[in-house]
Amino acid sequence: MGEGGLTGPLVFAILSAAFGSSFLFGYNIGVINAPQTVMGLWIRKVKCSRIGNNSADESWGQWCPELDTQDKQEHMFENGTLNLIWSVVASIFCLGGLIGALTTSFFVNRFGRKGTLLINNVSGIIAAALLSFPSLAGSYEMLIAGRFVAGLNAGLNSGVPPMYFTEISPSSLRGAIGSVHQLFITIAIFVSQILGLPYILGNSYGWPILMGLTIVPCVVQLLTLPFCQESPKFLYLSKGDERGANDALVRLRKRTDIRDEMDEMKLEHEQMKNEPTVTFRDLFVNPFLRKITIIAVMLMVMQQLSGINAVMFYSTSIFRSAGLTPDQAAYATIGMGGINVLMTFVSVILVEKAGRKTLLLIGFSGMMITTVLLTVFMLLYKSGVVPDGENTQGWAAWASLSCVILFVIFFATGPGSIPWFLVSELFSQGPRAAATTIAVGVNWLCNLIVALAFPFIQAAIKEYTFIIFAVLLALFVTYTWFKVPETKGKRLEEIQAELRQNL
Ligand code: GLC
Repeated sequence: MGEGGLTGPLVFAILSAAFGSSFLFGYNIGVINAPQTVMGLWIRKVKCSRIGNNSADESWGQWCPELDTQDKQEHMFENGTLNLIWSVVASIFCLGGLIGALTTSFFVNRFGRKGTLLINNVSGIIAAALLSFPSLAGSYEMLIAGRFVAGLNAGLNSGVPPMYFTEISPSSLRGAIGSVHQLFITIAIFVSQILGLPYILGNSYGWPILMGLTIVPCVVQLLTLPFCQESPKFLYLSKGDERGANDALVRLRKRTDIRDEMDEMKLEHEQMKNEPTVTFRDLFVNPFLRKITIIAVMLMVMQQLSGINAVMFYSTSIFRSAGLTPDQAAYATIGMGGINVLMTFVSVILVEKAGRKTLLLIGFSGMMITTVLLTVFMLLYKSGVVPDGENTQGWAAWASLSCVILFVIFFATGPGSIPWFLVSELFSQGPRAAATTIAVGVNWLCNLIVALAFPFIQAAIKEYTFIIFAVLLALFVTYTWFKVPETKGKRLEEIQAELRQNL
């Protein structure tokens, strides 16, 4: 805990924001994966009890009799209505995320970074309440409403923590601290997958608790974040509160001599006074800003359309269709979550050594190759041509599982964490909030498209689904190669100067 380094108050602020916000965001991404079947059974029960078995609605009439065997339960989602309700449960979270993300610049400019995170707990608590009681209320609409509000909350929680971290960290630690966001997201996805095991909370009694546990990060943050400092940059550059910024910095750095950082901010303040305020429109009208905005947007498009959330939301069912038993599929999902955390740790170390662009290229190329292999193995599994003694399909099932795990490893190498902070690195202070809002909004929009479309594409073209991602990934490798600049080891002003020269 050296001077200017990781002080107690800085670590406390990072942990409070990361657990209350990044963690909550990740938990909501992962939480519906494991209990999909038990929740599907419950939705079906609610629907059937409403329409009765003699309903004119034939598709439900057909599906209402007891699903007493595992085999029948497995095919439950082939029912169009149930599949639709389930894909709404999964994807309305992303619609909420999109709307929440678009409010980022409004909230952070008005209430500050810490202030926004604190206010955001209101929607977090409402969501937790809605998600805890649908079973008691016998209403899947309540579950859908809860997922939507959880999405609104996640929309702000996806863009604001990296901004807060960047602004309160000393520059020497900015990269590593920026990656704490993705680290907590992956830890939370992992935790939600473990808690979602059938004998923990992923059963017909436990799932409402599993969903309602989202209240914990909100309460912890409400109890801790008020003791943390607001971003000195926000106080000074947005509010003109030099004194407040000074006090916040003294506390964060745990020393009184913070002249260097204050001088830097003063300089930035002067420069900003000369620059006109950047609006959303400027991002697209100003030729220079438009070029970096396109790169920022593309980074988010590439992160999401790589197909990562098809795996994060639906891995259990992907593993089932690759031939694993339900138990094996549940553990494979957990293994995948654990590896995602481990690799994110590794990428935090790699990012300053190998560089952003290199890691993105390795990540996307690896993902492309694994999606092609996954398709081949799934087809082999289906045709049963792989000779393996008595169990002719076992080999192909395990090979498919390895492909999915490799897919996640390559994602975590770079495409997982880099887009979140590369966007901030590409923009100067003036346009940063507006650009982050657009970029994070696009991230959610693409997330929504994948979440909505995946179950239907999977039902329609089955084993060939991942070919779509393979084609997209090939395009992303090309785009990254030609268009994404390397920012490793450069000061923010240098990055700006180079961008102006090269674009
Ligand atoms: C990134 C993505 C998120 C995804 C997660 C998986 O945070 O933005 O959508 O679920 O990585 O690790």
